[in-house]
Amino acid sequence: MPTKRHIQENLSFKRRDFLAGSAALAAGAFAPFATAASPALKDFGASKGITFGCAVGARDLVEYPDLAAAITRDCAIVVPENDMKWGIVEHIQGRPSYERADAISTFTQQNQMALRGHTAIWYRNIPEWAQKQLSGPEGRDLILARIKHIVGHFRGRVAEWDVINEMIDHTNGRADAMRNWPPFAPGDIGFIADCFFAAREADPDAALVYNDFGFEYSSPGEDDRRNAALRLIEELKKRGAPIDGFGIQCHLKVGNNFKPQLFRQFLADIAALDLHISLTELDIDNQRLPADINARDAAVAEHGRIFLETALDERAVKQLLTWGLSNRITWLNIDRPRADGLPHRALPLDDKMNVTPLWHAIADCMKNAPDRR
Ligand code: XIL
Repeated sequence: MPTKRHIQENLSFKRRDFLAGSAALAAGAFAPFATAASPALKDFGASKGITFGCAVGARDLVEYPDLAAAITRDCAIVVPENDMKWGIVEHIQGRPSYERADAISTFTQQNQMALRGHTAIWYRNIPEWAQKQLSGPEGRDLILARIKHIVGHFRGRVAEWDVINEMIDHTNGRADAMRNWPPFAPGDIGFIADCFFAAREADPDAALVYNDFGFEYSSPGEDDRRNAALRLIEELKKRGAPIDGFGIQCHLKVGNNFKPQLFRQFLADIAALDLHISLTELDIDNQRLPADINARDAAVAEHGRIFLETALDERAVKQLLTWGLSNRITWLNIDRPRADGLPHRALPLDDKMNVTPLWHAIADCMKNAPDRR
């Protein structure tokens, strides 16, 4: 059975990656950006053993050099927002294209940042050709092959993989709240375990994580989700599955009911199961807030501060990533638009790459967090 990996070891920058990055640089790929004033968010994090980073798209890195520069300043780890998803990588069956994900990998190598893998398996963003086959007898083989290919392609380059994303569904009336998505018969934890074994085989050095949303607030649905998550981890552990960490997405929303003690206990429960915790997709939906920018920024920062004071108190929390870094690009404007059509102010930098009050809240919370080095 594979031994448990430690995230801090995995996140250390590998020498061979640096050499590969230098070769790509000589070939004229991304130039490394000058380091701006310290301390940056990554520095506040590093001083306490927290790796800070964000999500980005390969096209955004090319289109917005100022965003790329800001990422190199503030981040120690980067995750592709979409570019590793199955529907983007394997548009045509058997002809995978890793161009966009590889570009992000090169960017991280050249700037001495770690890379997260997101996501090997998700019930969304499935290529059209796979939709039908997944419900058929070959469905499970397809899932395992996808894991083998994507994790194998990035072997040695990814510090931590979201092996499975969003397999909990509390809305389907099942007691175990597991998603009904063929070829994952709901309740069949054995096949989820197989996915983790396949990922371990494809890259023995990457930390392996289960990632999901909807654990942060107090509501009956989220109670069910928290219970389902703990049961899932226990069942995976019983089967000896190589799971190292638990990813909490942290798509927060101002106005939702956050009960610090409840969330703090959930983090302690996960830590007690011997997993580290990664906060993987933090952003703060502000559609319930008025238009005024200063008022909104202040309320967003306050919400982030209260949440992170609690979350970062748990020493098992080793990573914090925001879903995007600058308000110039956030999925919320497309997937969760404000009723007044104004752009969200959800992230640590504004659309001109200036820091927002949320940036300061994140910096302060990391600065005040207990040391987990
Ligand atoms: C989102 C991306 O940000 C969007 O660009 C895309 O259209 C849909 O997916 N949970 C996840 C992420 O795990 O992969 C999702 O990303 C946001 C919710």
